[in-house]
Amino acid sequence: MKILLVGSGGREHALALGLHADAACTSLHVAPGNPGIAEFALCHPVDISNNAEIVALAQEIAADLVVIGPEVPLVNGVADDLRRLKIPVFGPSKAAAQLEGSKTFAKEVMSDAGVPTAHSFTCITHAEYENALDTFGAPYVVKDDGLAGGKGVVVTHNREDALDHAIACKRVVIEEFLVGPEVSLFGISDGTSILAMQPAQDFKRAGNNDEGLNTGGMGAYSPLPWAPSDIIDDTYKQVLAPMIAEMNARGTPFVGLLYAGLALTDHGVRVIEFNVRFGDPETQVLIPLLKTPLASLLFKAATSGLADEVLEWRDDSAVTVVLAAEGYPSAPKSGAVISTFPSIENVQIFHAGTTQTDQGLVASGGRVLTVTGIGSDLTEARDRAYRAISQISLPGSFYRSDIAFNASVAEKGN
Ligand code: AMP
Ligand code: GLY
Repeated sequence: MKILLVGSGGREHALALGLHADAACTSLHVAPGNPGIAEFALCHPVDISNNAEIVALAQEIAADLVVIGPEVPLVNGVADDLRRLKIPVFGPSKAAAQLEGSKTFAKEVMSDAGVPTAHSFTCITHAEYENALDTFGAPYVVKDDGLAGGKGVVVTHNREDALDHAIACKRVVIEEFLVGPEVSLFGISDGTSILAMQPAQDFKRAGNNDEGLNTGGMGAYSPLPWAPSDIIDDTYKQVLAPMIAEMNARGTPFVGLLYAGLALTDHGVRVIEFNVRFGDPETQVLIPLLKTPLASLLFKAATSGLADEVLEWRDDSAVTVVLAAEGYPSAPKSGAVISTFPSIENVQIFHAGTTQTDQGLVASGGRVLTVTGIGSDLTEARDRAYRAISQISLPGSFYRSDIAFNASVAEKGN
């Protein structure tokens, strides 16, 4: 099977390794890819915000399967363009991608499907903003209705800041603040069936103890020793299955990865958000733990073949830590040279924002590398990830030192 993977981040590097490891994948092409992926797959310089370029490449290589990593091409409808040409695609249609593209749409579908989420109002006028803020009280949660590259959500005790964010975004969803730990739980769907993956947790703030600015994600781990034992079944029944049934009933089946961002509240599980693609960096811990061959799995999802499939997992733990460039997330500096690159057993280093130049490998993005350690428990996985990341030399770079720390302590208490 010839596979085209679209994207260039750490998530795509992890997906590419998973696809490549499956013997069913006879050739792997990536658009545009990155220097880490180029070590074992064919990378093509493609502008992935341009659907026509992706479609032309899929035709040129006669792809049997196209896997879309990031949300932008999905919201642009590239999956529809490919399906019109009868090319199997892992990734939702433009209509189904609105679950990530519009918070209001996601709320409507959840409401129709009976999926538990925060109470909310969609607001466009000043009076509506004020009314919604005062209905829920502090802390205020104000979300840009559209795609905002991780910058759309403000959670604050300051009513003026909340109001300013609403004014800046114009159309916003204002909602109840949910109290409880956050979990990322992904489902792989063929449009009718959906398979729940094991949960992961990511760390969104730039600094230790969840301080500092919101980022794309600074680290992640899986599994979650502290989570309720029925979390997968519960999320399948309350969230994933009803969403897939509702999208089907609307005539816009969801094929691809449904990312449920959950809060585990005292009243049960609540959806914070949906994304329509694999999470980054959660993918960098989930794919190394997944035993089920990835290429065949995603092909079955793309071709209505998941009904009898089950996922198999390694009985191990994984922890990933993001190495970020100086100034990330507000003003990341590019161009610093990555001079040492450790090779440690049970560690995988994924490229996220790197470029190969005459000076060698240099940082070219905010999140530069993602370093995953694998071990028999979180403590061992964590030790390996941190041992490796501490040996990488990149001037000005930084990383959080507390990824999976609390969970590794909780694990020992079990
Ligand atoms: P998002 O960009 O939707 O993932 O939101 C960013 C972060 O804002 C989430 O990871 C949560 O930590 C926080 N957040 C979003 N919605 C809520 C909510 N209703 N209650 C509490 N925190 C929230
Ligand atoms: N890790 C958060 C995301 O992928 O959106």
